Amino acid sequence: MLHDLLLMLTLTTTQGVLANPNDPPPPLDLPTPPPAVCVHNANQRKSLLADMMHDYDKTVVPSNESIHVNVEMTVQDISSISEITSSFVADVWFSQVWTDERLEYRNLSCKTNLSLDSSVSDKLWTPNVCFVNSKKTEVHKSPAANVLLIIYPNGTVWLNYRVRVMGPCKMDLTNFPMDHQDCDLVFESYSYNTAEVRLYWQPWSPVTVPSPDDFRLPDFQFSNVSWERNEEYYTAGQWDQLKVTFSFKRLYGYYILQMYLPTYLSVFISWIAFWIDSRALPARITLGVSSLMALTFQAS
Ligand SMILES: *[C@@H]1O[C@H](CO)[C@@H](O)[C@H](O)[C@H]1NC(C)=O
Ligand SMILES: *[C@@H]1O[C@H](CO)[C@@H](O)[C@H](O)[C@H]1NC(C)=O
Ligand SMILES: *[C@@H]1O[C@H](CO)[C@@H](O)[C@H](O)[C@H]1NC(C)=O
Ligand SMILES: *[C@@H]1O[C@H](CO)[C@@H](O)[C@H](O)[C@H]1NC(C)=O
Ligand SMILES: *[C@@H]1O[C@H](CO)[C@@H](O)[C@H](O)[C@H]1NC(C)=O
Repeated sequence: MLHDLLLMLTLTTTQGVLANPNDPPPPLDLPTPPPAVCVHNANQRKSLLADMMHDYDKTVVPSNESIHVNVEMTVQDISSISEITSSFVADVWFSQVWTDERLEYRNLSCKTNLSLDSSVSDKLWTPNVCFVNSKKTEVHKSPAANVLLIIYPNGTVWLNYRVRVMGPCKMDLTNFPMDHQDCDLVFESYSYNTAEVRLYWQPWSPVTVPSPDDFRLPDFQFSNVSWERNEEYYTAGQWDQLKVTFSFKRLYGYYILQMYLPTYLSVFISWIAFWIDSRALPARITLGVSSLMALTFQAS
């Protein structure tokens, strides 16, 4: 009884206020949104992961057909190119994206993504894409391994690593110092051939390189990047191969100033001897010997 009275009182007051002509018009009656189906309690994430990993076997490939894996690479920095070891060192982020239907959680949760780290990625099946031509590769640890794993509700898995990779360069010094050098990185799934894993470049911007001015390479300038996809036949079967090639051109200003110019000058100076009187032997010999010594010491 008292409640009814209070309610009536409130309604009358509200109407009274709304009726004031100076006030903005009353808001339209919007349909009430459906009640949220998901409850974001602290426990949910735990049980969700537990549900997903329940009877998950990482040794089983997610599908009977070959898995379509998209690969994407972003170069953070290229820090050195060495003629002595014919190699270059780069810091890259590289991602593998595939779909594992066993990890679908559309019906279990309303989260739009699950961000996880390497402890979970170790428990999942991964296509094991790696740099097959690298001389050395390490995942950055600062202090924990730089691994990002995102699982989407539809089972799409995005696995990203930040690695330092040392790759080979085909050093061709024929045109030194005006040479171009090509360095490449090759991706392959190490464990699975095309029957299980098909590798593709991500359809949009598969390789991202920072602007050439951001590289601080002492002797080279980054000029171009290109990528391609091949199929390779090995004894163990057919593998998809993704290859990215970086081109660098040498900065030859240093060589012109420090090597070519002084050498030419010494040679030209030695020619002065031809204009000196042929009887002035000491002068001619001194000139010749000084040019020779200048050349000799320049090289050392
Ligand atoms: C894979 O093959 C097995 C047997 O051939 C079948 O039972 C299963 O449903 C298949 N799975 C998929 C995802 O096609
Ligand atoms: C999720 O729910 C939809 C309908 O709400 C159903 O069609 C689908 O089979 C369910 N998926 C799983 C994995 O249970
Ligand atoms: C992941 O989910 C959060 C909210 O849960 C959202 O803000 C964010 O944009 C999502 N990220 C991606 C990449 O979908
Ligand atoms: C799964 O969801 C992600 C993020 O919304 C989307 O990028 C991806 O294309 C989806 N994959 C499939 C197989 O639908
Ligand atoms: C850069 O790479 C593209 C693609 O391979 C090639 O067509 C182009 O000629 C290259 N440009 C230079 C300057 O090397």
